[in-house]
Amino acid sequence: GRYRIDYIMRTPELIGQVVIVKGWAKTARVQGGGDFAFIELNDGSSVKSLQVVVDKSFPEFSRISGTGFSASCKGLLIESPGDKQPVEMQITSLTEHDFKIIGDCDQNSYPLAKKNHSLEYLREQAHMRPRSNLIGCVARIRNALAFATHQFFNSRGFLYVHTPIVTASDCEGAGEMLQVTTVMGKTLKEIPVTPEGNVDYSMDFFGRQAFLTVSGQLAVENYSCALSDVYTFGPTFRAENSHTTRHLAEFWMIEPELAWCDLEGDMECAESYLKYCLQYALDNCYDDLEFFEERIEKGLIARLRNVLEKPFARMTYTEALELVQKSGKTFSVMPKWGDDLQSEHERYVSEDVVKGPVIVYNYPKVLKSFYMKLNEDNTTVQAMDILVPKIGEVIGGSVREDRLEKLDEMIQFKNLDKESYWWYRQLRMYGTVPHAGFGLGFERLVMMVTGVENIRDVIPFPRWPGHADF
Ligand code: 4AD
Ligand code: MG
Repeated sequence: GRYRIDYIMRTPELIGQVVIVKGWAKTARVQGGGDFAFIELNDGSSVKSLQVVVDKSFPEFSRISGTGFSASCKGLLIESPGDKQPVEMQITSLTEHDFKIIGDCDQNSYPLAKKNHSLEYLREQAHMRPRSNLIGCVARIRNALAFATHQFFNSRGFLYVHTPIVTASDCEGAGEMLQVTTVMGKTLKEIPVTPEGNVDYSMDFFGRQAFLTVSGQLAVENYSCALSDVYTFGPTFRAENSHTTRHLAEFWMIEPELAWCDLEGDMECAESYLKYCLQYALDNCYDDLEFFEERIEKGLIARLRNVLEKPFARMTYTEALELVQKSGKTFSVMPKWGDDLQSEHERYVSEDVVKGPVIVYNYPKVLKSFYMKLNEDNTTVQAMDILVPKIGEVIGGSVREDRLEKLDEMIQFKNLDKESYWWYRQLRMYGTVPHAGFGLGFERLVMMVTGVENIRDVIPFPRWPGHADF
């Protein structure tokens, strides 16, 4: 039968059997005076490759060379004489075994023919980069963390709700939306790209203005205020013209919404969820984590274990600000009360003071979105952000304002259009409940788990200003 390489590596009982594997060559070299070829075959099931030894009597032997070709291999699994891997495959018997190259790979033009490409170069080859070990590991980690997400929330009784991508509402009220236009009866080639050829696309969702969602929160709140605990997990979009290593124009977000929940419950859920994801990766992706440990961040696995050991530190915005002000460090700006904590300040608190994740809560209302619940002091809101070393904010959340008058005050305070939130306001008119939630930027979680430092390398096809090929 045919097996995946990861399964073969973990199943010593297969030794002595003839099996089929299919994959791509990482490397291939001819040895033994030209009698044997050694292929490192990878099929994506693991970062580990299977060593395949092919005898020169096979007709396709002479086509074996370089990297990147695809092959179908039928051979005998034997215990590996070397100690690099537990098992290898021998293809020697012309009657029982078989070796076929499915697709050759021209080494002169193959974008990944050489070894050790820079991450920048790989980004330009996004169609080919899943062939690289690093992007392969990232893909498996993403898959595992997505699976862990569904497991965590489902085991706690949350319902997965699909919220819309196309919407007229600006969830964050921050004015960072990408607009939707319709293209009917034109192929991509025929769409005018010059300003002269442009039509007015301003009301172009069939006569209505529409955008790509910045967050599924407001929509998922509607479900939470009927079905209790829910979550959404999907792509979100921000028209930020930022070129940082932590921002994308298209990223994935997990947004749980908890009915009957306060700030304490929200923080507990967020911390447990993050820890669940880290534990899941340690339990299920150890080979990939070892790869990142070796290639990207020494001490990665110890760092992850360390996060699991202790409760996250907690402090108010005011306390975090005081730490920054009393640090004796020179920052490019020194914030006063009411100012946003810049990433240099967030990093100081989580990296230098706490040395781990920290939950900062009770932010000034001037800094946060309109839907956050006002505290008694009338100046702070029940918001909470989770900051982690190197990355900064991975989670942003809050208790939601469940009192209609207060919500209306806040909409006015933020100079937003009350009418456009008519459906959101109705949740506060008909059976309102206290509720809270948060959003985890999925790519920032992947950065945290892998140590990869640029967010563009932890999503298959990164979108940032001006970059949307493939
Ligand atoms: O803090 P944000 O903007 O919060 C919200 O969108 C809320 N509606 C979430 C909620 O309460 N349901 O974004 C949440 C998280 C951030 O903490 C960050 O991890 C990530 O989303 N994020 C980004 N990730 C990549 N690129 C960007 N441009 C991001 N903007 C936010
Ligand atoms: Mg935020």
